[in-house]
Amino acid sequence: MSFPNVRARRTRQTDPWRRMVRETRLSPDALIYPLFVVPGKGVRHPVSSMPGISQLSVDEAVKDARAVAEAGVPAVLLFAAPEEKDARASAALDPHGLAAAAITAIKSACPSLLVWADVCLCGATDHGHCGHVLPGGAIDNDSSIQTLAQVALNYARAGADAVAPSDMMDGRVQAIRQALDRDGFAMTPIVSYAAKYASSFYGPFREAAESAPAFGDRRSYQMDPANAREAVREVSLDIEEGADLVMVKPAGPYLDIIRRVRETVRVPVVAYQVSGEFSLIKAAAERGWIDERAAVLETLTGIQRAGADLIITYFAPEVARWLRA
Ligand code: PBG
Repeated sequence: MSFPNVRARRTRQTDPWRRMVRETRLSPDALIYPLFVVPGKGVRHPVSSMPGISQLSVDEAVKDARAVAEAGVPAVLLFAAPEEKDARASAALDPHGLAAAAITAIKSACPSLLVWADVCLCGATDHGHCGHVLPGGAIDNDSSIQTLAQVALNYARAGADAVAPSDMMDGRVQAIRQALDRDGFAMTPIVSYAAKYASSFYGPFREAAESAPAFGDRRSYQMDPANAREAVREVSLDIEEGADLVMVKPAGPYLDIIRRVRETVRVPVVAYQVSGEFSLIKAAAERGWIDERAAVLETLTGIQRAGADLIITYFAPEVARWLRA
């Protein structure tokens, strides 16, 4: 059968037809919104490279968390940029530190909003790397994962609904699982940034999270953008170690990776539409070069169509409101 018997446009001619045959449907249920917490009170400091996004003190973060929950977004992903940064990442280990305080405050204000706590050392270390740095500049993988496990435990004790290690050290999921289980947190899920690429699209985030490395780059721990098979390997290793959800990051330039991972694993796949992907759309929209709403919905639809079950995006509350309107 071929043209003129076959006409693909028949089911495309009106909006009701298009709605009925649509294969991918975005839902607010699949969205996670990142929040950046800083010290102080009443602080709402705009991130210049991310229009509409601000660094928030805990009290302001609670307000945004409420608004996010009200919009119908089920979860936030929390990043903290504490003032005191040292080689040991002490602020991330402190039960009364910034991240822990923010988790507790948000959970008590919005108990039904899930709080995922990003677990990493880069925001709390003076050198800005995601693990401990040895004299000479190499990353000390095995001591880093012990610290990361303690950070994860600290956040679980503060009330985090999930911990999300973003450091890309080997063995950290296993170390975190063991630490959580030993301390009575067997039910706290681990969302692993499993296939996280050394990407130029994290630039704006590093302003928001104050986490740019003071020297060198992250290519000895984050993945080479040229590699796809390695992503499947990374994801499989993390699942063996106990990851409950796995993440691909960034999202837009890595749709093939999302698809491969989705076809390989049985756990939920999360994609992170990162800061650079957000800012590209914002910048073009500000210049009137692109229709922001249409572009946002198209990118998120593409990410979901590629196979993402959940999407972390800075557009989350806005999109949730559009989808409900
Ligand atoms: C740090 C971390 C990064 C992001 C999330 N966690 C940046 C990096 O690895 O330098 C990026 C998020 C974004 O760009 O939106 N561990």
